[in-house]
Amino acid sequence: MKNNIRTRTITASCYHDENFFKKEVATIFNQEWQWVGRSEMLKKPGDFITTQIAHYPIILIKDKSNKTLGFHNVCRHRASKVILQSEGNCKKIICPYHGWNYNLDGRLSNPSNFFGSNDFNHKNHSLYPINIEEKYGLVFANLDPKSDALDKWLGIFSNTIDQHYSDDFIFHNELSFDVHANWKTYIDNYQEGYHIPSVHPQLNRDVIWEEYSINNSNNCSIHSVPERANSRQPGSFGWIFPNFIFNVYGRGIVFQRIEPIKPKWCRVVYNLFRPLDISADDFESNEGKYQLEVSLEDQNLIPDIQQNLQAGIYKTGPLSMKYESSVAFFHDLLIKKMSKGV
Ligand code: FES
Ligand SMILES: [Fe+2]
Repeated sequence: MKNNIRTRTITASCYHDENFFKKEVATIFNQEWQWVGRSEMLKKPGDFITTQIAHYPIILIKDKSNKTLGFHNVCRHRASKVILQSEGNCKKIICPYHGWNYNLDGRLSNPSNFFGSNDFNHKNHSLYPINIEEKYGLVFANLDPKSDALDKWLGIFSNTIDQHYSDDFIFHNELSFDVHANWKTYIDNYQEGYHIPSVHPQLNRDVIWEEYSINNSNNCSIHSVPERANSRQPGSFGWIFPNFIFNVYGRGIVFQRIEPIKPKWCRVVYNLFRPLDISADDFESNEGKYQLEVSLEDQNLIPDIQQNLQAGIYKTGPLSMKYESSVAFFHDLLIKKMSKGV
């Protein structure tokens, strides 16, 4: 906290300006690891899912040797998406526009009856690759094929997840919400416990929010808050730049991401994992209900904050040195990464 230079938020325009958003995509979402799916969605050769990172459509697919690969979902001919379905299985990837077909490893088969120019070589037209790695039952993608390894990005964040995650956990369910807010409006809210007594009545009954503490280091913030007597909430939360989060509200673990869809629009996705020996009903009526309640309480107020960030009256605000050090930390990281980019 002492090392924070920033005592005020970034300016309000950063939360809605189109050019600022474009620069974020180019310097952050084009270069940082993103959680994009679950390993259990891709079991056998040819299994695929499609999704997107910011405005980049991508494919995750199992190749013949059952390795998970990733590609931009863009045909090398005239830029159609090569897969339109959100999930499925295929023997080859066949572009729906003119029928070019690609092997599961992204190599283009020589298109017959194409009559390309003399210098056209199908071998130079494989799908554009992206980096894929898997951990905690999740699939992560990095649009930069020369990115650092996932473990290097996760760094010390893994140590905390490892304290809560078990390979025996099974997927419970996914929650997904489109929120009328910039992705950073949502992260800012996540990064402080200052609003707990006003916004989260049940959480406030379970934790001693005055003792909420956050350790900011490298590229992540580990949140801890002591629980009150009679509470079953250990209060363990963490965020890693730019938008990957874990929450523990008792048993199991919740992974969360805040997708930047447009400057004024984000998608909040939760995947809940529960211990194998806990029934779905038991988990849902406890931890599942808890996560949903906290999330809805945040979603109730975040669009109003976004409206005011856009309205032009508010420019910037002061940050608590005790409770909002992680908001300052996030803003500092953002500006630093963006200034290093294009
Ligand atoms: S755009 Fe894919 S085959 Fe033409
Ligand atoms: Fe909250």
